[in-house]
Amino acid sequence: MINPITLGVNIDHVATLRQARGTRFPDPVYAAQVAEYAGADSITFHLREDRRHIQKRDALLLKQVVTTKLNLEMAVTSEMLTFGCEFRAEDVCLVPEKREELTTEGGLDVVGQLRQVRDACSRLAEVGTRVSPFIDASHEQIDAVIECGAPCIEIHTGQYADAHGDEQAALLETLNAAIAYAHGKGLQVNAGHGLNRHNVAPIAANALVSELNIGHAIIADAIFLGLEQSIRDIKRIMLEARAAAS
Ligand code: PXP
Repeated sequence: MINPITLGVNIDHVATLRQARGTRFPDPVYAAQVAEYAGADSITFHLREDRRHIQKRDALLLKQVVTTKLNLEMAVTSEMLTFGCEFRAEDVCLVPEKREELTTEGGLDVVGQLRQVRDACSRLAEVGTRVSPFIDASHEQIDAVIECGAPCIEIHTGQYADAHGDEQAALLETLNAAIAYAHGKGLQVNAGHGLNRHNVAPIAANALVSELNIGHAIIADAIFLGLEQSIRDIKRIMLEARAAAS
């Protein structure tokens, strides 16, 4: 039997384009609906403190129209925890956040803020939200996530995605070792960041990975192919890689 792999489509950059002009379009909520139609298994968005792309209004509208499930990426702050507990997304991915960064740069340091992450995990679990800290491929961080009681992690694939050749092969090995370790400890393992049609297959081929969250490359390809085609393509590559490895 083939272990299923699902695709979470991150729609942040539809909102990035809208915010660049302060217009009403393109609308990330409409993008979410197209994404579902094209085969997205969930819709991912990041409500950042600086509101550079997704706005609170988008989140509230997404809650009303999305029929698959929502994965809210958020920082571990008291403002976002209050919002996350009221919002009750199916999934919350806890991410580090720095105002000056272009995108989420590294994994969350769960080891360094164990008490805050544990508190966030238990408050979100109480409202029925599944929490998945976004972490680097480190056994220490995985152990800390387990201490926090989260059922799931998202492994940061950014470094792997940006690398080439031997360096990329070595980083893939590191990722696969961390994925096996986390899965062996009973965690659901998701992955994401920097994935695109050229580098996604080796990650999708790992049968221990449940879900991939992909944004920038999907929205970038959509400029040339249309959003529907862009999503159908990446999902097909993921499913083919998984089937070939099974
Ligand atoms: N997963 C997490 C936790 C992220 O923060 C992001 C970026 O918002 C992604 C996945 C998607 O990354 P990308 O846009 O590079 O596909």
